[in-house]
Amino acid sequence: MVKVAPSVLSANFAELKKDLDSIRECGADWIHYDVMDGHFVPNISFGYSILNDIAKVSDLYLDVHLMIEKPMQYVDAFIKSHASLITAHIEAFHHEQEVKTFIQYVHDQGVHVGLSVKPDTPISSIQQYLDDLDLVLVMSVEPGFGGQTFQEQALSKIQELCQLKQNRHYLIEVDGGINATTGQLCREAGVDVLVAGSYVFNAENRKEAIDSLK
Ligand code: DX5
Ligand code: ZN
Repeated sequence: MVKVAPSVLSANFAELKKDLDSIRECGADWIHYDVMDGHFVPNISFGYSILNDIAKVSDLYLDVHLMIEKPMQYVDAFIKSHASLITAHIEAFHHEQEVKTFIQYVHDQGVHVGLSVKPDTPISSIQQYLDDLDLVLVMSVEPGFGGQTFQEQALSKIQELCQLKQNRHYLIEVDGGINATTGQLCREAGVDVLVAGSYVFNAENRKEAIDSLK
């Protein structure tokens, strides 16, 4: 069965604990935590100190999605703040060696590591790192905002990642515009983890919303 990772970007931060409890009771598997720096994406969200607070009140796996320009500069802070998995964007790195250092560093601290591709970035850009990744995050919207429409080219990337998997252990995650309909398309394509922000948090019945994704 797929895992569902509600994105707290769509939560109510004045009621964060209540929202975290609610998604856990409604069957969420992971918490997806979107970090935006106003440079890599044209939006600012939150940093590591809120993650540290979340870790104190939730035992769910903390799936950190860094949409920032200098992942290496902040990775330690997110590790100390109890990230379970740290995913950075391949587009945020300038050299192959930087990517390798990032992957190695995160693994050395005992934390899972992922790479993400924007809608226009091909899977070939991360192919050489696949052996070492715990997760590949396929963006199905331009990163930066919740509530956008799913872009279908994500489906062929999910299929491509399934074919490339062979003996590799990475999970395939998709993020952006996920609802019952697009979630089903992604499941059929072979996805392992569905991120859903607005669909889960704005639902009248969050349990039904999460169930409809599984
Ligand atoms: C977008 C973020 C997503 C976002 C998804 O840049 O990476 O995780 O919260 O939101 P929805 O599910 O509303 O598209
Ligand atoms: Zn995200």
